[in-house]
Amino acid sequence: MADPDRTGRLREALRAANFTADGLLDLLGGPAYAALARSETVPALRATRGTSPLETLVRLFLLRQGVPRERARNALPLDDALEDGWLVPAPDAGDGEAVRATVDVRPYGGPEGQDWWIVADLGCAVGGASGVGTPEGTHGRDVVLGVGGASTTLAGITVRRPVGRALDIGTGSGLQALHAAQHAGRVTATDLNPRAVAVAGLTLALSGASGVDVREGTLFEPVAGDEPYDLIVSNPPFVISPGARLTYRDGGMSGDDLCRTLVENAADHMAEGGYCQLLANWEHPRGQDWRERLRSWVPAGCDAWIVQREVQDVTQYAELWLRDAGDHRAGAAEYEARYGEWLDEFERRGTTAVGFGWITLRKSGAREPAVVVEEWPHPVEQPLGGEVVQHFERQDFLRATDDAALLDCHFRLADGVVQEQVGMPGAEDPEHVVLRQQRGMRRATKVDTVGAGFAGVCDGSLPAWRILDAIAQLVGEDPVMLRDRTPSAIRLLVEQGFLLPAEADAPAG
Ligand SMILES: C[S@@+](CC[C@H](N)C(=O)[O-])C[C@H]1O[C@@H](n2cnc3c(N)ncnc32)[C@H](O)[C@@H]1O
Repeated sequence: MADPDRTGRLREALRAANFTADGLLDLLGGPAYAALARSETVPALRATRGTSPLETLVRLFLLRQGVPRERARNALPLDDALEDGWLVPAPDAGDGEAVRATVDVRPYGGPEGQDWWIVADLGCAVGGASGVGTPEGTHGRDVVLGVGGASTTLAGITVRRPVGRALDIGTGSGLQALHAAQHAGRVTATDLNPRAVAVAGLTLALSGASGVDVREGTLFEPVAGDEPYDLIVSNPPFVISPGARLTYRDGGMSGDDLCRTLVENAADHMAEGGYCQLLANWEHPRGQDWRERLRSWVPAGCDAWIVQREVQDVTQYAELWLRDAGDHRAGAAEYEARYGEWLDEFERRGTTAVGFGWITLRKSGAREPAVVVEEWPHPVEQPLGGEVVQHFERQDFLRATDDAALLDCHFRLADGVVQEQVGMPGAEDPEHVVLRQQRGMRRATKVDTVGAGFAGVCDGSLPAWRILDAIAQLVGEDPVMLRDRTPSAIRLLVEQGFLLPAEADAPAG
């Protein structure tokens, strides 16, 4: 619907009014801004009772308010906005001369401080679908959400190196495609939902990202026969639910089959050295190890790093998604019936809990792929894209380095690693020593005295065996035995990013 010149003029008006992420926070203040993210609009309505262009735009595009035409004309090119359908007359606002927005538009700060605007269905810019009460009633099952916590998580963990071709599956509002357009020569974005295809087009146009190819269709179908992609990202409809009720979240396949299908088929569409990164939910079936199950999804020729960030029992999980859809606002009987449907489905499938996390594949072509499946529920430092690349680089190093070669290597302690000693107050010796990262994954790992001593000396100047021999002498241990038993501990410290392989930057002596 949008003409590029008119869209450009609208963008300039939004910017001139300071309808940006920072401008919004300044106007509303922290509490009202945070309340809006919880779908509570009253504080923001109170903060926008003036007539400035910024207040007008917030009322129109985030609070679903009708606004008098002349006020709207002060804030944006009114005729253009009416022509392109951003606004329509709103006689029901009690003022025959009022206009209202047809979509939500949320200011969003890009990674380099860019001013972007994410388009979504009315009531869905912030706070998710529960903000609109009953989404099915308002927009039908094909409601298009704006930016949620999952969206920003995926954007943060995505590898942001310059690439030729990127693909965003299930683009929705178009946020991931917009990010990808900053570092990919060509971006393709797909969605099953034709309304999402249109909405993503608006986000991209309004935010000034031209040339993204937005296609309609399911999973990999719209890109069948395309050249392989260097980066595939997807925040798919991963919810494990009793029925395909809402397109943005229910994949319409049973259990976690949609996520499994994406992972299993990704390799066919990945270029050598390319990455595929997705968010997923997975079942914990009764009597089966979830880690083994996830491992079995990884396609041949791909290394994988799978991180379970959270696990919920089936009741917590059902409640989360019942609230997400606004079902808690329905009558008690309906809520009970819907809740029962979720539990029936989990009982039928033998699912005891559901994991939520990140899946990254890298097409290495390795005969012995490095597949790491782990649980890390603690806070991390976003963006993590750089850490993802380093994870796989460290895996390459470990795969290519046997234990003898490892002892000849030089290592350095990663930046921001500190040592914590845990024990009774006043005790002479700690009960255990923990190495903790203050950056990236913010991991913590228990080490013994040798591990702590070894890590402390690693500045890249000595080969590992030299450090170990010195430690052996200090603690009175046989150096051969120590060299023999330590490589597995060094491997773990390297795998987790505490120690980094270093060029020998000083003579070993
Ligand atoms: C959770 S939303 C993600 C939106 C956006 N990418 C983000 O990160 O915020 C999932 C999207 O997948 C789309 N979708 C649902 N089923 C799909 C399918 N089978 N193939 C492709 N996209 C699908 C939905 O329409 C929705 O836009």
